[in-house]
Amino acid sequence: MPGLVEADDLGMYVVKMRGAGQGLPVLVAEVLVGEMGRALGVAVPELVEVDLSGEIARFEADEEVQDLLTASVGLNLGMDYLPGAFGYDGSQPADPEVAALVLWLDACTSNVDRTWANPNLLRWGGQVWAIDHGAALWFHHAWARKAPSADRFAAQPFDASTHVLRDLAGDLTEVHERACAVLTPQRLTDIVDLVPDEWLTPSEHLPTTQAIRDEYVRHLVQRLAAPDAWLPGAGR
Ligand SMILES: Nc1ncnc2c1ncn2[C@@H]1O[C@H](COP(=O)(O)OP(=O)(O)OP(=O)(O)O)[C@@H](O)[C@H]1O
Ligand SMILES: [Mg+2]
Repeated sequence: MPGLVEADDLGMYVVKMRGAGQGLPVLVAEVLVGEMGRALGVAVPELVEVDLSGEIARFEADEEVQDLLTASVGLNLGMDYLPGAFGYDGSQPADPEVAALVLWLDACTSNVDRTWANPNLLRWGGQVWAIDHGAALWFHHAWARKAPSADRFAAQPFDASTHVLRDLAGDLTEVHERACAVLTPQRLTDIVDLVPDEWLTPSEHLPTTQAIRDEYVRHLVQRLAAPDAWLPGAGR
């Protein structure tokens, strides 16, 4: 569960803690997918690094929260808090263009976490905002145990049938072309470079943080090149 935190820039942030159960890859997915979405024109709240000091953890009264804070000393992921935002419920449908961009983003990054049970979309300031991308890019959870396979990720189908914006989205062919023009290998490299080193855990197969960064770029480049496998409406 994320926490609402006032930082020393006086901003309020929804913070995902590095010490929470799902681990560091979830924070990486938030940055990569959030920034890919932003590059395409999806409204994504600003993402920041929140440096949690040990002092804050030490003086926390609730034992469970104290454990989480103690495990989270260092850099955590903050997302600009949108005060008074409503959860998306379809009563004011998203624009078809926004729906198409969000569906494309989720299909490309294999994000299954945008269903009616859990839309992970907010309505705020007249716009639909995309949040919570921690479930995307599942492949990195296996990197500690086995060799990365960009081919496998590139070929992974996407089931759009339960996606919350599916019926609004229309044809994604043109969106895919535009997305490929924006998300060039250089742009993807720049986005991957936003991830702090301390969220990247070297392993036998990826022994340095640079090797991990290169592998993220490779996975995304190959995925973009294989829309027949995953783009809703393509190849079928
Ligand atoms: N930037 C934000 N501004 C306002 N409210 C937010 C923001 N981010 C998250 N929330 C609220 O907090 C809830 C949980 O956030 P989020 O979905 O990112 O976390 P989560 O741990 O994945 O939770 P869940 O498992 O319920 O999806 C959201 O459904 C939303 O109501
Ligand atoms: Mg959520």
